[in-house]
Amino acid sequence: MIHAGQAEPATARTAGPLSGQLRVPGDKSISHRSLMFGGLASGVTRITGLLEGEDVLATGRAMGAMGARIERDGKAWVITGTGNGCLLQPEAPLDFGNAGTGCRLTMGLAGVYDMETTFSGDASLSRRPMGRVLDPLRRIGVQVRAAEGDRLPVTLHGPKTAAPIEYRVPVPSAQVKSAVLLAGLNTPGITTVIEPVMTRDHTEKMLAGFGAHLEVATDEDGARVIRLEGQPVLTGRDIDVPGDPSSAAFPLVAALLVPGSDIVIENVLMNPTRTGVILTLQEMGGQIDIVNWRDAGGEDVADLRVRHSELKGITVPPDRAPSMIDEYPVLAVAASFAEGETLMEGLDELRVKESDRLSATANGLKANGVDCVEGETSLLVRGTPGGRGLGGGTVETHLDHRIAMAFLTMGLASQKPVAIDDAAMIATSFPEFMGLMRGLGANIE
Ligand code: S3P
Repeated sequence: MIHAGQAEPATARTAGPLSGQLRVPGDKSISHRSLMFGGLASGVTRITGLLEGEDVLATGRAMGAMGARIERDGKAWVITGTGNGCLLQPEAPLDFGNAGTGCRLTMGLAGVYDMETTFSGDASLSRRPMGRVLDPLRRIGVQVRAAEGDRLPVTLHGPKTAAPIEYRVPVPSAQVKSAVLLAGLNTPGITTVIEPVMTRDHTEKMLAGFGAHLEVATDEDGARVIRLEGQPVLTGRDIDVPGDPSSAAFPLVAALLVPGSDIVIENVLMNPTRTGVILTLQEMGGQIDIVNWRDAGGEDVADLRVRHSELKGITVPPDRAPSMIDEYPVLAVAASFAEGETLMEGLDELRVKESDRLSATANGLKANGVDCVEGETSLLVRGTPGGRGLGGGTVETHLDHRIAMAFLTMGLASQKPVAIDDAAMIATSFPEFMGLMRGLGANIE
């Protein structure tokens, strides 16, 4: 299984300790939303620190196709929005490549308009379930044409006037929550989303920053209830995107695993809906000092000093999964080097990511000599302190950037090199990965 371009195999080997300071690129979730909300708002939005990965650029192209003006000004991006309610019908299908977030959020945003919008993507995205977003859109009155199993390509046509809904999100998914809220932006009345398990809250926070009226409460069962007033005036603003904790996880785990390492990762987003992996690695004995906490435009950020550590296995509580859902592949790599067993549970959603990440992770571990057990919704890893005997395999990445980066991280500390079949997809979320890791002293070629 390869993408349209040429596969780019890569191999990681042990080298000396990792050292130095680095900044990872801007947070992917916030970057997508910055382009979407800036493209929708009236007036100008100026974005610094935007992740210029392929996923985010696809969202930018989609907003451009619906009437937003998106220009680069030195290191900043300047967006002139259409005004809420004023998106234009795109002339051609919107191609989201590998990007589930861009695709699903835009389905909510544009799908409720009385116009025809078609969504397409690469082989990975075309296999991923879209019913989770199409079901609530159908209830709002959107006409849906989709490939079998509610897969891409999907064509949406909104009603003359959309009907507000109350929607209980059936899976813990910020993408589903966000798609319904974004549909509510062009729907008269109050759209209500109930999420029994809290997921990343960037949509709520950022929409409020653009001028939308939202109320967030907790009901008697502890579920979060979000009420959005429809058809708000949204106004452009300045956004400085903090570093992505999901990208920071790779150099972070690398420094924990490679003996003698001592690095600082600067300006990392510390929103508590995103920091589960830091807490988990600290519980495993990882020396991660969180320093220089500060507020950056409404989000907490901090610098992370990370030193090589002897890790021990733990049980990761399933209710932590939403706050570290993208970090399990690299956490499983860390667990391979820990003393004892690490049990990760509540991993249902990993099956429907850019790849079936649960089996891709387990297969990658097994190919490199790790003793692990893949359950239906869990992963048990038996660690080998020091990585003795680990490595020597080639990992199938299945068009998944995080599988690629997780196993290159593994090769930096295992006794034998680790190869991956294709590093090209890393550009979707972390184009600077190879350069930044080599800058710390990593051996990846
Ligand atoms: C994201 C939500 C998560 C996450 C994805 C980004 C977002 O997906 O895995 O990388 O920006 O809303 P789900 O909503 O499917 O859990």
